[in-house]
Amino acid sequence: MTQTVLITGASSGIGRATAQLLTERGFTVYGTARRPDRATPEQFRLLALDVRSDESVRACVDQVLSQTGRLDVLVNNAGYALTGAAEETSLAEAKAQFETNFFGTVRMVNAVLPGMRKAGAGRIVNIGSLAGLTAIPFSAFYCATKFALEAYSEALWHELRPFGITVTLVEPGFVHTRMTEAAQLVAGPLPAYEGPRRRVIAAMGRSVERGIAPEQVARCVLRIVESRAPRLRYRVGAEATWLPRLKNAAPWTVFAAGVRRRFAVDAST
Ligand SMILES: NC(=O)c1ccc[n+]([C@@H]2O[C@H](COP(=O)([O-])OP(=O)(O)OC[C@H]3O[C@@H](n4cnc5c(N)ncnc54)[C@H](OP(=O)(O)O)[C@@H]3O)[C@@H](O)[C@H]2O)c1
Repeated sequence: MTQTVLITGASSGIGRATAQLLTERGFTVYGTARRPDRATPEQFRLLALDVRSDESVRACVDQVLSQTGRLDVLVNNAGYALTGAAEETSLAEAKAQFETNFFGTVRMVNAVLPGMRKAGAGRIVNIGSLAGLTAIPFSAFYCATKFALEAYSEALWHELRPFGITVTLVEPGFVHTRMTEAAQLVAGPLPAYEGPRRRVIAAMGRSVERGIAPEQVARCVLRIVESRAPRLRYRVGAEATWLPRLKNAAPWTVFAAGVRRRFAVDAST
């Protein structure tokens, strides 16, 4: 029997590349998009899903189960970036960021777990980020959702182990996707942050442009899905590998100076 995989946010970027690769490898793949009618036709099935809605999540998971009778792998990939200084971010914007990036994953996991527990098997793959290990200025709430995903996934790993269900975090560095175009800028910018905000957003845009290919992340997900015993964490790309090590090893002031330089937080003299 071929395994059934559900990948959230497969209309572009990492989700799309992963859905394509797993389809080529013979998995039965269901990708999702909020507006599947507007998406490019794919080799895999594309279902409607908004991870912010309980009803949408339930309908999506029910559709997969009614069509295939099984759901072996869930890849929680849907997400977007909110940019702006923490002080410039309204609580509504911060909560909305959590609603998609964090609670969207929680909703999906809760919807698939009864079936996976019954089957005594399953794989949950959460697309985290290097930004879940080291924070980027002017992305405080995006990073907070990814840090939250780290803690949630780690606790879930322990809880689901007795049921034969594995939980894995994929932690890529910058990836060349349309994430910058899809990013949301805070609605109420403050003049006090204008210069650094502009420089940091430009630096992040350049980093995404020079980022690794989404196919590299897709190959990591394939490795996890095909592994008999996947680890809790997989880092993807050179930066995601060495930067957290440097953060642990170097004094904070040294590491922080590197981050400020990397993202051009301070005006060059
Ligand atoms: N690009 C990077 O540098 C990078 C690095 C590390 C981690 N990541 C993570 O990788 C994941 C994918 O990002 P990407 O770079 O591939 O960006 P992307 O190309 O913009 O893809 C984001 C996907 O999420 C979906 N999505 C957004 N809001 C949604 C919602 N409310 N409900 C359901 N789906 C929703 C989008 O689908 P629709 O808009 O069609 O609904 C789209 O398919 C994200 O979790 C991101 O945080 C990205």
